[in-house]
Amino acid sequence: EKGGYDYFMLKEIAEQPKAVADTLLGRIDASGLLTLDEVRIPASVLREVDKVVIVACGTAYHAGMIAKLAIEHWTRIPCETELASEFRYRDPILDQRTLVIAISQSGETMDTLMALRHAREQGARVLAVCNTNGSTIPRESDAVLYTHAGPEVAVASTKAFLTQLVACYLVALYLGQVRGTKWGDEIEAVIRELSDIAAAVDRVLETMEPVRALARSLADKDTVLFLGRHVGYPVALEGALKLKELAYMHAEGFAAGELKHGPIALIEEDLPVVVVVPSPRGRSVLHDKIVSNIQEIRARGARTIVIAEEGDEAVVPYADHLIRIPATPTLLQPLVATVPLQVFACELATARGNEVDQPRNLAKSVTVE
Ligand code: M6R
Repeated sequence: EKGGYDYFMLKEIAEQPKAVADTLLGRIDASGLLTLDEVRIPASVLREVDKVVIVACGTAYHAGMIAKLAIEHWTRIPCETELASEFRYRDPILDQRTLVIAISQSGETMDTLMALRHAREQGARVLAVCNTNGSTIPRESDAVLYTHAGPEVAVASTKAFLTQLVACYLVALYLGQVRGTKWGDEIEAVIRELSDIAAAVDRVLETMEPVRALARSLADKDTVLFLGRHVGYPVALEGALKLKELAYMHAEGFAAGELKHGPIALIEEDLPVVVVVPSPRGRSVLHDKIVSNIQEIRARGARTIVIAEEGDEAVVPYADHLIRIPATPTLLQPLVATVPLQVFACELATARGNEVDQPRNLAKSVTVE
């Protein structure tokens, strides 16, 4: 049932192009309009929404951090993303005009369930983004947009994450559509590119051998740091989470702009630092700032592992290891940038002799608070 792979995780990583395509299937029509019939919250209610709150845990929370950037940028509705386990304990401000999005692969995560129950008690509408038909979280929500990743067996989430991102992009674009947000060229390009994104994920998967070799060469390290900005920051957090779960290594993700506010003190000779570089075409200021961050850490001895778009030549002089990803619109980059980090963590875990699909101390779905 592992389809010829040694681990479910490898199989699930390989299934990502299909999972992404399946999650898009039938949801964007030929004219580029979104058809999300499952989102059974009336358009009149969606037009009145004045705040979006996303609640989730772990990897789903990282998807939510990226979703916040897309929702705010494309719809101009204020959006916050919060760890479900913190949410209801701080008396959050919610009312009938709040749309809560609960993201959960399993649909059974107790922290997320308790957060959405709290939100509904306060009168908020809840939309679930979920991978498991008929599970508790969608049952208790006002509406659900299913991700079509298929069953995810490995404890470490991979294909569910990519499909959560796709579903969140669709929700963001749909909100813009029903609210008549000005539909500029950027959004039209995003819709077009989304339709081709599965092929881009596939291209990344075809170039992973050097990433595996790099991972094996780092098997005796104690620490790996991850840096990113904007959508690259949650990707950095996700890369670090995968490494903790699978390789049992000390791994931390930082917003690259925070380096000089503390973390740069951690940099020492030969410390592996993975840097997720934003597209030089989108927010080019951020790109240039990250390139200087790479220079700074390299000058202090870090071994730089740079994930950058094809054609981005500015990073070449400062990259000890360069991992290329296809060019995408800025907000979609996590769909391709996360994949090498999954492969990296999986290979490191194997090299360290760890059980990939069932890491110690972890359960696939966390049904206690
Ligand atoms: O089923 P859920 O999406 O609600 O699960 C949330 C987290 O427990 C989950 O993403 C966890 O962080 C994964 N093991 C990460 O790989």
